[in-house]
Amino acid sequence: MRGKRVLLGITGGIAAYKIAFLIRILKKSGAEVKCILTPASSDFISPLVLSTLSENPVGIQFWNKEDGTWNNHVEYGLWADIFVVAPLTANSLSKMANGSSDNLLLATYLSMKTKTLVAPAMDLDMYAHPTTKRNLDVLIEDGVGIIPVESGELASGLSGEGRMAEPETIHQVIQNYFDAQLEAEFKGKKVLVTAGPTFESIDPVRFIGNHSSGKMGYRIAEELLSRGAHVILVSGPTKEELEHDNLTLIPIKTAIEMLKAVQLHWNNCSYGIFSAAVADYRPKSIADQKIKKNDDELSIELIKNPDILKWAGDTKSSDQLLVGFALETNHLLENGKKKLAKKNLNLIVLNTLEDKGAGFGVDTNKISILDNHNNLVEFELKSKKEVASDIVSHLKMYISK
Ligand code: CTP
Repeated sequence: MRGKRVLLGITGGIAAYKIAFLIRILKKSGAEVKCILTPASSDFISPLVLSTLSENPVGIQFWNKEDGTWNNHVEYGLWADIFVVAPLTANSLSKMANGSSDNLLLATYLSMKTKTLVAPAMDLDMYAHPTTKRNLDVLIEDGVGIIPVESGELASGLSGEGRMAEPETIHQVIQNYFDAQLEAEFKGKKVLVTAGPTFESIDPVRFIGNHSSGKMGYRIAEELLSRGAHVILVSGPTKEELEHDNLTLIPIKTAIEMLKAVQLHWNNCSYGIFSAAVADYRPKSIADQKIKKNDDELSIELIKNPDILKWAGDTKSSDQLLVGFALETNHLLENGKKKLAKKNLNLIVLNTLEDKGAGFGVDTNKISILDNHNNLVEFELKSKKEVASDIVSHLKMYISK
């Protein structure tokens, strides 16, 4: 839920006290939280508790009597990635079902640009009343998600259906909503990813290779899979492992083998993210037998490997998007720009070995992403998992532009 904006609407029921726990779990999972209250709900939970836990001011009235500032319900609607009304009393339910807007929370509901979830909470007779059922049906018809009530002891002393779902359950429903949204992002799309090093044989036991661990490419493949893509992962030798129903893993050793795999699949893919550290050169001939150390000096003649990314860039159609990597030791931006143009890329991920914690073998990376309209975005040092998420999110943003 990292970076997700959760707007909590709290109406006047005893279960309001539980929202403090919900805010804590949401904050722990990385969400940003803002709260708006109906005037009645501040009798059940103090706005100070909510603002302290959420680290944001709490909205109750349309305007603040002390300093005259205006709480803009439209802004709340634009800010939120999800609106969760919990607890939802029978009174507020009825007002939501009828489009009433006589408080900030209700006006915000009407301005909402995104999904609204509600967690009803009321006494069992109120919950069982046909009016309540009818109002809930109206909300469902309007696209609101209902987090079912639970059965148990109620504030009235009675026992039955009507308790608000526990904060952990509400948190899970919110998480499920964001997961489903993510899964839909790349659904039905095939993405070609290259990862790891290539090994270029010298003789039957030796090769020219590099220190690439494949971690970055595998994290990217994982991220794409979690967002619903079918991934074709062409991977050089690595310790990394990945299994998924939507994954086609093609293990290769050499640049020529990687090129062949890419040539076979690129046509059928919508996007390509090429993170492999392909050896630029390979021995001109591979000795049949193990080379003996007879001489003091040994020369191996090398010839250039095909540039796989450039091949994909040269052959890409107008609806395919291609992302390359550039690992530079100097003039990062200048060289990155040249590579982006030369290889006909849409995006290029720039990193330099000079940044501490970036590059081969380590679990972190520090990147910038340059697009073919010259927009550059720089990121902090992060885990490769988070970097993969940034790269895929950036691609998604680029696609939706
Ligand atoms: N790449 C590739 N095939 C190659 C070499 C590189 O597909 N034979 C891809 C890499 O996967 C990466 C990008 O090209 O996405 C950048 O590779 P890099 O080695 O940094 O660039 P080069 O074009 O090889 O330039 P130079 O070695 O001169 O820096």
